[in-house]
Amino acid sequence: MSKSKGISNPGIRRLPRYYRFLGELKKQGVERISSRELSALMNLTASQIRQDLNCFGGFGQQGYGYNVSGLYSEIGRILGADKSRGTIIIGAGNLGRAIAAHINFDTRGCRLIGVFDADRQLCGTLAGKTVIRHTDELEVFCNENKPEIAVLCIPKANTQEIADRLVSLGLKAFWNFSHYDLSIDHEDIAVENVHLGDSLLTLTYAAERLGTE
Ligand code: NAI
Repeated sequence: MSKSKGISNPGIRRLPRYYRFLGELKKQGVERISSRELSALMNLTASQIRQDLNCFGGFGQQGYGYNVSGLYSEIGRILGADKSRGTIIIGAGNLGRAIAAHINFDTRGCRLIGVFDADRQLCGTLAGKTVIRHTDELEVFCNENKPEIAVLCIPKANTQEIADRLVSLGLKAFWNFSHYDLSIDHEDIAVENVHLGDSLLTLTYAAERLGTE
């Protein structure tokens, strides 16, 4: 993830969570919230919140708190959630189909425009609401539709090769679920490697320490 002016990298990592909480508050009709209230809600310290959010200027005022709607829009703009970037899924197995069906791309600045698999038997069937196409069609599809983001849900061994192919087709960002830490030697390409197993180990680490400290 790229750095945004004045915000630390861990601060940027927290932005999606602020965005989610502020979105909920906005839905509930809350117009403003103090850093203390927000900190209680999000289980962060008030000073951490002030440090993270003061970079956005104008939305937090002494004695007033944060303007929920304004801050929500500003964080959404910084995250790029106000865009509609063409997104494709590569690999329509269990995971690819689950992502196609259950991730709301639209509210996160993305638009799912294609799902691809190397297995011809899957082609023509649905992943969520999207018809699965064969990866042979990638070149023509990308030239016509200019997707920017690829979600990789394929086995480890095939990941680097397909990523390199997609970079040559103009893809700029990879949400990579394959068990392979994708590294692309281009400065202008973004990669987010996701390992649910790592998250589980973070939990088991915490569980391991329960009652021992
Ligand atoms: P799956 O076997 O159900 O599906 C994989 C699909 O990828 C198949 O349909 C296959 O035809 C397709 N495929 C293989 N090579 C391809 C290529 N070069 N181009 C296009 N399609 C290709 O596997 P599942 O359960 O969907 O998992 C997919 C990958 O994600 C696996 O490598 C798995 O280990 C990994 N995974 C990662 C998780 C994470 O937290 N990062 C969680 C669960 C799975």
